[in-house]
Amino acid sequence: MSLFKKHSNKEVTRINRVQSDFFSELIHVFDPPLPEGVPQRLDQIVASGGVQAGDVVLDVGAGTGVLIPYVESYHPKQVYACDLSKAMLDYLGAKYPLVEVVVADVREIALPAESVDVIFLNASYPNIADKHGAFLNLSRMLKPIGRLVISHPLGKSFIDRLKDRSPFPLDDFPDSTEAETLLTPYGLAVDTFIDESELYLLVALKKDGCQLVGSGVGQDCKIN
Ligand SMILES: C[S@@+](CC[C@H](N)C(=O)[O-])C[C@H]1O[C@@H](n2cnc3c(N)ncnc32)[C@H](O)[C@@H]1O
Repeated sequence: MSLFKKHSNKEVTRINRVQSDFFSELIHVFDPPLPEGVPQRLDQIVASGGVQAGDVVLDVGAGTGVLIPYVESYHPKQVYACDLSKAMLDYLGAKYPLVEVVVADVREIALPAESVDVIFLNASYPNIADKHGAFLNLSRMLKPIGRLVISHPLGKSFIDRLKDRSPFPLDDFPDSTEAETLLTPYGLAVDTFIDESELYLLVALKKDGCQLVGSGVGQDCKIN
């Protein structure tokens, strides 16, 4: 049973359209120079994913690609970058031509089952309107023992400061207990949890032998 907040499909489509338009106008905000300390924390975030040479990596809500140079330094075989905003991904693709861009809601990425080693959601978890659909698809694509990294290099309180002026809903990052409760139904086990004033970092592992059973709400992880 999913414990994520549920919006109607119509509302998810509306929120996604508002976000896509909003972020398409903000490309300059996400480009370096980054705020002091952020490059070091992005380095830590990507290191926590344990990317190995030859891995397949997916960056969800990739924006202009702030994570990509850190990810590419580990020599993955393939990097995919997904975002709702085509303008953001056009910019990312021009800068990092080896990355394959996917303009889509994360719940619609059609990579094969169990094909991705590491998935990053940097500063994008609060924005995802349909988290149940997103985590079903992320868990489907992750290889067994694959790693999912949920992070924010300015800490979770940064989202509180944005909420009042955001034209779309932003959800809180979960605390460690909530994270276990929310992610377990998708076969994801929390491995690392850091919640500091300027860094939120959660690494979850896909349990080996986990198969999602059922369809839609109530779908759950069954360990064989
Ligand atoms: C705050 S930006 C972060 C961008 C980048 N990860 C970074 O760290 O600079 C959040 C991004 O998530 C994207 N996004 C929001 N909901 C999404 C969804 N359901 N699927 C894919 N991308 C999404 C937005 O379009 C936006 O580019």
